[in-house]
Amino acid sequence: MSALSELCQKIAVCQKCEILAKNRTQVVPGDGAESADIMFVGEAPGWHEDQQGRPFVGPAGMYLEQLLASINLRREQVYITNVIKCRPPGNRDPLPSEIQNCHKWLESQIELMRPKMVVTLGRYSMVLFFPGKSISKIHGTAQKRDNVIYYAMYHPAAALHQQSLRQTIEADMLKIPSFLSQVETVTEAEPQPQQLSMFEG
Ligand code: URA
Repeated sequence: MSALSELCQKIAVCQKCEILAKNRTQVVPGDGAESADIMFVGEAPGWHEDQQGRPFVGPAGMYLEQLLASINLRREQVYITNVIKCRPPGNRDPLPSEIQNCHKWLESQIELMRPKMVVTLGRYSMVLFFPGKSISKIHGTAQKRDNVIYYAMYHPAAALHQQSLRQTIEADMLKIPSFLSQVETVTEAEPQPQQLSMFEG
C-alpha cells in the first residue's frame, strides 16, 4: 500500500473534531491519481460526499468535471481533496478549530504527493496558501513555493450559483496548462510566517 493510501486510512478514522466525528457518515480523505501533477483542494464535503466518501460527487463536482474536461483532463487524472475531511453538520462553514485540526492531514497529503500544482477552490482553501489575500483579487494568479505552484480559483459551487462567476472560473481553468508547462515563469512567493492567522482566535 502507498504511503498516501496509508495516510488516507488514518484520516478515515480521525477523531480530532468531536462534533464532526459524531455527525459524519464517513470521512472523505480525497481521491484521484496519486502521481497526478495537480491537486485540487476544495472546502469541505457536502451531503453527497459524506454519503459516498468521495470528494466533489454532487452538483459542484459535476461542474468541476466539466471544467477539467475543458483542459482535457478527467477527474481520475488529478487528485481532489478538501481543507476539512468531514462534512460540517447542516453544511455550515468549517470552524477555525476544525481547519486547524485538519491542516496537518492536508500538509501530509501534499508532502507525500508532491504535486506540481495545488489549485485552491474557494476562499477557505485559498487563505491557507495565500494568507491575507482576497479571492476576487488573486483568482487566476499563481505563486511558487518550494517548487510547487499554488493557483487560486473560485469555488465551482459559487460559479454554479452566480452566473457572473462562470466565465471567470472557466477562463481561470483554461490558464492551468500554460502555468504547468512554464513552471519557471511563475513568481516565487514571499515566505509565510503564519499560514493560519486568518482562522485563529
Ligand atoms: N464542495 C467542496 O468544497 N468539497 C466537496 O467535496 C464538495 C463540495
